[in-house]
Amino acid sequence: MAVPHSEFASRVVWARTSDAEADDLSLLDAVERERRARYLREDDKRRFTLGVILTKRELSARTGRPPAEISLDRTCPGCGAQHGRPLFPGWHLSVSHSGGLVGLAVADVPVGLDVEERGRSLDEIADSVLAGEPPGDLHVYWTRKEALLKATGDGLRVPMTAVRVSAASAPAALLAWRGRADLPARTVLRDLDPAPGYAGALAFIRP
Ligand SMILES: CC(C)(COP(=O)(O)OP(=O)(O)OC[C@H]1O[C@@H](n2cnc3c(N)ncnc32)[C@H](O)[C@@H]1OP(=O)(O)O)[C@@H](O)C(=O)NCCC(=O)NCCS
Repeated sequence: MAVPHSEFASRVVWARTSDAEADDLSLLDAVERERRARYLREDDKRRFTLGVILTKRELSARTGRPPAEISLDRTCPGCGAQHGRPLFPGWHLSVSHSGGLVGLAVADVPVGLDVEERGRSLDEIADSVLAGEPPGDLHVYWTRKEALLKATGDGLRVPMTAVRVSAASAPAALLAWRGRADLPARTVLRDLDPAPGYAGALAFIRP
């Protein structure tokens, strides 16, 4: 599954953990193999592996270099360990996994992708998600806000309650970001429909 977007030279690519290549380690470098080995659950290993494969294939297509020669920097701005978002010169990337689905977004501006399986109710944590938005599909609110937080690189270090978006039933838009008045005008937010049983969102931030 691949969804090209006309905006920001972007594309979103999906894979499923049931794909046989989720066990193919041939594109993983030593650091990535070590990270994969540290996951205790087989599902986590498969999700991580597919994220690497999708990322290296997409960058190979965009650079003309073989996927095995694509090397990703994942330096975490918080602690320096290799578990942050993948960085590659010239392109912005965002990886997301949930349940049996793994997605990659690539663009020429900072991008954030989030996918969530609709398996569990989020009602109990509504207070930590909403920032005054009307009641609505919490998976939509969750994925919109996580996509935005991943696009800026903050992740959940910034609470979702610092970010206000449009009503879940309305077209996706960032309305306010506490302490960052510039962001709503620079941000493009889209709801995605990645697969039955999943919610998803994609955020771009213009320079
Ligand atoms: C980013 C974050 C919201 C993702 O949550 P999640 O439930 O794992 O959700 P997803 O599956 O959608 O995303 C995972 C991907 O996000 C990416 N990611 C990690 N940190 C990120 C960040 N700060 N910004 C954007 N993307 C990030 C990674 O590519 C990761 O996939 P990978 O490890 O397989 O490469 C969460 O991990 C987070 O808040 N991290 C930052 C917290 C932090 O920096 N703590 C200090 C650590 S020392």
